Amino acid sequence: MLYRSWGSSADEALDYTNSSHEDVEIIEQVRLTMKAHVISLFLSGTIDKPVAREIVRAINSFKEIKQGYEDVHEALEDHLIKEVGEEGGWVGLARSRNDHVATALRLKARDLLEELLNSLLALRETILSKAEENKQVIFPVYTHFQLAQPSTLSHYLLYIEEELSSRWRNIFSELSQLNRSPLGAGAIVGTNLKVDRKKEAMMLGFDDVVYNTISATASRSDIISVVLEVANLMVSISRIAEDMVLLSSNMIDVVQLPDSHVSTSSLMPHKRNAVTMETLRAKAGLIIGEVASVLSIYKGTPSGYDLDLQEMNPHYWNVLEEAIRAMKILKSAISGMVVKKEISDPKSLSTDEAELKSIQNKVPYRKAYFEIASSIKQGVYQSNLKPQDSIKMKAVIGSPNPDLITEEIRIKRSFLSQDQDKLTSFSLRVRNGMNLMKVIEDDLLQE
Ligand code: ARG
Repeated sequence: MLYRSWGSSADEALDYTNSSHEDVEIIEQVRLTMKAHVISLFLSGTIDKPVAREIVRAINSFKEIKQGYEDVHEALEDHLIKEVGEEGGWVGLARSRNDHVATALRLKARDLLEELLNSLLALRETILSKAEENKQVIFPVYTHFQLAQPSTLSHYLLYIEEELSSRWRNIFSELSQLNRSPLGAGAIVGTNLKVDRKKEAMMLGFDDVVYNTISATASRSDIISVVLEVANLMVSISRIAEDMVLLSSNMIDVVQLPDSHVSTSSLMPHKRNAVTMETLRAKAGLIIGEVASVLSIYKGTPSGYDLDLQEMNPHYWNVLEEAIRAMKILKSAISGMVVKKEISDPKSLSTDEAELKSIQNKVPYRKAYFEIASSIKQGVYQSNLKPQDSIKMKAVIGSPNPDLITEEIRIKRSFLSQDQDKLTSFSLRVRNGMNLMKVIEDDLLQE
């Protein structure tokens, strides 16, 4: 106990508000934040080099949250005072747990988001390569879960890629918004010591500061936007998971999932249950629950830090970590899945027949439609077309026509490489900033 003036460490109630268990997730980020703060105190001339050196050494030796503290921040400060002596207490100047936790959360979320965006890029790459190889492979698509018209595996895969690239861009933009530093904002109004907030931000690889100190310490809306967008991503891919469950079921049996993705029943030896896809489908629900938790806790809290915000922290990591796992599982499922057979019901060609009549013979579409509809009703409908003909006839961009698919893949590849470049330069900027802090740290530690 370092911060408590009331009660004693034996109080039962202490345990209720303790976040040490959850804070294990952010130890590294809290240490980085404290380091930037101490270097900032040194650069402003508030503490001298030997004190700064001892404190930085002590920060590096902080590895675990011992018992008896409210949270990681209290445990760290007490550790510094125990290691350095009274001079360690300088770290209490010009900072609060409020700006420190807000900073650590952004740093942790940044790491996970970079990982998520990278795994999304890898998934998109896998999809585009597979699309390249399957332009002619007929694949069933449905509306109202009734067989619609012939498509190809490439066309279906490029649909997934399109969903993922939209989500990628939104998540990347959330990441840019998130990458701003709350450090130096104190508890809510900043501090009387002239610390250089911009320099602190730079040393932690942030692109800017969160300007207003109330916003910096008490807002969680940037990170909430992240989890909302990630939930959106998860919901989108839960539909793909559902497709895989249905298409690999013995009722449709078009897709074979890789052996590593299916399990057998303990009783029924013939089963190939699509268990990874069922789990992925469920995880999307779990994430919706996490988002609901976060929004419900946040809603209506007064502006300014409240301990309610602490209860939101573990939910962020759960959302991001599950999403990263989901990207990897989906990548492996898609790269290993094969089309077992081409579904061809002649009735799925009836639309093409009607369109042909209308376009070639210049018959109003409704008339052509009714002619075909009535032959279907009478049970005498027959198609002269094959699914491959149907594919070739498609004339609009984004459709399954293999020539147009070739063009679509080319465009999507160029978007993918632009996105790869954006993330690489973001990560480079972050590492450059962090290196700046490392150089100052190494210089401090040298003597
Ligand atoms: N453990 C807190 C959190 O994670 C840190 C901030 C606590 N601030 C306070 N004034 N009690 O949000």
